[in-house]
Amino acid sequence: MDIKAIATHRLDWTGDLLAIGFYEDAIELSGDLAELNTKLAGVIEALIAETEFKGAKSSSAVTRVGVDTPIAKIMLVGLGKAEGMKPDTLRKAGATIARAAKREKAKTLGISLPIWNGDSATTVQVISEGLRLALHQDTRFKSEVEPKHQLKLTAVDLLDFAGNDAAISKAQAICDGVILARELVAAPANVVTPMSMAATAEEIAKDYGFALKILEQAECEALGMGAFLGVAQASEMPPKFIHLTYTPAGTPRRKLAIVGKGLTFDSGGLNIKGAGIETMKMDMGGAAAMFGAAKAIGQIKPDVEVHFISAVTENMISGRAMHPGDILTASNGKTIEINNTDAEGRLTLADALVYTDKLGLDAIVDLATLTGACIVALGDDISGLWSPDQSLADGILAAAELAGENFWQMPLAEKYFDGIKSPIADLKNTGPRGGGSITAALFLKQFVKDTPWAHLDVAGPVWIDKEHGVNNAGATGHPVRTLVNWVLS
Ligand code: BES
Ligand code: MN
Ligand code: ZN
Repeated sequence: MDIKAIATHRLDWTGDLLAIGFYEDAIELSGDLAELNTKLAGVIEALIAETEFKGAKSSSAVTRVGVDTPIAKIMLVGLGKAEGMKPDTLRKAGATIARAAKREKAKTLGISLPIWNGDSATTVQVISEGLRLALHQDTRFKSEVEPKHQLKLTAVDLLDFAGNDAAISKAQAICDGVILARELVAAPANVVTPMSMAATAEEIAKDYGFALKILEQAECEALGMGAFLGVAQASEMPPKFIHLTYTPAGTPRRKLAIVGKGLTFDSGGLNIKGAGIETMKMDMGGAAAMFGAAKAIGQIKPDVEVHFISAVTENMISGRAMHPGDILTASNGKTIEINNTDAEGRLTLADALVYTDKLGLDAIVDLATLTGACIVALGDDISGLWSPDQSLADGILAAAELAGENFWQMPLAEKYFDGIKSPIADLKNTGPRGGGSITAALFLKQFVKDTPWAHLDVAGPVWIDKEHGVNNAGATGHPVRTLVNWVLS
């Protein structure tokens, strides 16, 4: 599918489906729209009347114009109130239009949407993202693609937007990243393994000229990564500690790290999970989004140095598994009493954070499908954000707003640290049930000494059961767009 930003006006476009955006309660047909309505024998006016279309957000209507008419079908897309419209409204409109074009079997699509905030580049970027993300379908594990899923659409014209080719390329790079993240999360644990994650890192390094260091088990042992290796010890697969680095051509404006939780499967260990265990192929969602951001950044090439780090393994059971009650020593010397083998993500992140902290960077963001407690608190559409550094937190929240991804800042309430004090070791790996996502964040904080740091608990939004916005049911690729925007900011 080829997206083009062109000078053609909606009055002059010809093709299978023309989609026009309308603000709520501002759907009078005046100016060129009146002219277009006349040209189409009053079909727009009739469609508005028949469907009682008011331009409400996420409403739409489609009808056929005629046979052998310059435009075969017309679509009205509601944008909600003009005042305070966010770029994500246009991203979602792009998704709505894309799904309609697919349903209507259109081969050519013309889109007429308003400019957000006088910024045509952002407008073109977000519409393009909405189109591509809504149309992505993962058929890797189907032996045949059903006819109803075969896309006819080949050409999309963004009307009145000539001169924005760079924005289309940027959207393409970001969508490549989101789609990589979705496909890593959706693939099962017999396909996405620690070895395959290392291979993904190698591919990105080769494609975009990144430096790559993969620490094997012996090197992790030499670095004293007892927390990470404790989690890995029951797996038949070798753990892989991945460190991928993008370095810009000139002097970097900032040096950043993105650290992703990379559990290719989380059985829970000896504190084995019950119902829903099969969903735990998604437990590398943090690392998947980290790779997605790397793939986008490799193409966009910003003037920022970025380190992508993940301690990848599976949490399994065997005669070699960690026992509940074991005491592990992390690479900063802290001892951890394992009171629950299912709180494994924080153990792998502990050693990844100690390693990253030593790189002397300007900021670290970790992201993890860390706790069910975060889903209880915020549901499946909002991720938790914790940071002792408010300007870093604000930067991530601003990046997320532009990305159309939802975050809510949560407290790093030191009082709750009492809940993870151990009588026998420095820390235990889980606290009381209440505030479980907060004690998890406080646990991670113990492993970052010097670098401004933020933690994102993405357990809810990496996966959705029902199509929503630009996402189809399943893996979402959350929060690749936020990470990319944060790096670019
Ligand atoms: N990977 C899970 C968290 C999770 C749950 C992610 C649901 C996505 C969906 C994590 O390793 C885990 O098992 N956390 C435990 C922690 C508890 C033992 C303190 C949890 O949330 O139940
Ligand atoms: Mn777990
Ligand atoms: Zn986990």
